[in-house]
Amino acid sequence: MIVLGIETTCDETGAAIVEDGRIIHSNIVASSADLHARYGGVFPELAARRHIEAIRPVVEEAMAKAGVTAQDIDLIAVAHGPGLVGALLVGVQFAKGLSIAWNKPFLGINHVEAHLWAAAMEATPPLPALGLVLSGGHTLLLQIDQFGTYHPIATTVDDAIGEAFDKIATLLGLPYPGGPHVEALAKHGTPRFSLSPGYVKRNPIDFSFSGLKTAVLYAMKEVTTEQDKADLAASFQETALRDVVHKARLASQKFSCQSLLFGGGVCNNQRLKELFHTAFPNTPLYFPSPALTLDNAAMIAGLAYQKFLHSPYSDPLDLEAKTRISFQPKA
Ligand code: KG4
Ligand code: ZN
Repeated sequence: MIVLGIETTCDETGAAIVEDGRIIHSNIVASSADLHARYGGVFPELAARRHIEAIRPVVEEAMAKAGVTAQDIDLIAVAHGPGLVGALLVGVQFAKGLSIAWNKPFLGINHVEAHLWAAAMEATPPLPALGLVLSGGHTLLLQIDQFGTYHPIATTVDDAIGEAFDKIATLLGLPYPGGPHVEALAKHGTPRFSLSPGYVKRNPIDFSFSGLKTAVLYAMKEVTTEQDKADLAASFQETALRDVVHKARLASQKFSCQSLLFGGGVCNNQRLKELFHTAFPNTPLYFPSPALTLDNAAMIAGLAYQKFLHSPYSDPLDLEAKTRISFQPKA
């Protein structure tokens, strides 16, 4: 079964052709990060406008690279949330248009669930698993009993972890998106600044990064040399990542956790991987390969295949783009 996946939740326009949920024939991503660099974060209207320009060529490129025509495609899948509404609308409307023109079923897919699914496209993790979505838009820990049945355990009460990396990068004068730059600078530093992780009183397993951000802002006053900057980057990274590891440990103790599944751009961080391998030496850890970690359409197509196999249907043409989709436990 051939699925065309479409992804436009934030600043990446993605299209992919995936066969039987796992064989990725193409996975094209056009990023508009260059447009947002001067603002230090995603400028929603600019992202939406770039999606409008990019969506058709990106879909055509994905089909050409995979060597498929409209007739070969069995299902169209689109991320319909969560994300920026203007950006989402472009992908959702495009998918609906293709569905009508080609007379093919289409499915709206939860982008965050697809981030979790990415690791399962390349392996078969034992369940129940602890799922961790660590991206520019989300910081989520949840218990995965099976795909489709989730129990949320923790989330962030303010910034997402990737967003915190991006903002710290701006403070340190590094380019956007900042996560990889903070990581690169931190490699040359010693985490000697004393910074505290965020604490959320009503649910101490939840995340908060705004206090840590402010602490870095104040610590900037002590930064005079390039070495100081690297030390501060290392201090921030160490504090934020150790906080994730600590809370993942607490979360994993709430059920009979058999494996950990990672998704989202921050999971590319090598220090994060080191810390998790040390903290969970006896638990299998599943990190998707980099092309499936950042926002991409292959994970959308992969998850859609799985859902379609389970119950073949087409979403109605009035399916909405949703800025938020909650993870409610489903039977
Ligand atoms: O999953 P993703 O492409 O987009 C969202 O769904 O948000 O993740 C992008 C985020 C950005 O905030 C970026 O700075 C962060 O992932 N990121 C990293 C690294 N690579 C990407 N953060 C820390 N270390 C990295 N190596
Ligand atoms: Zn994402």
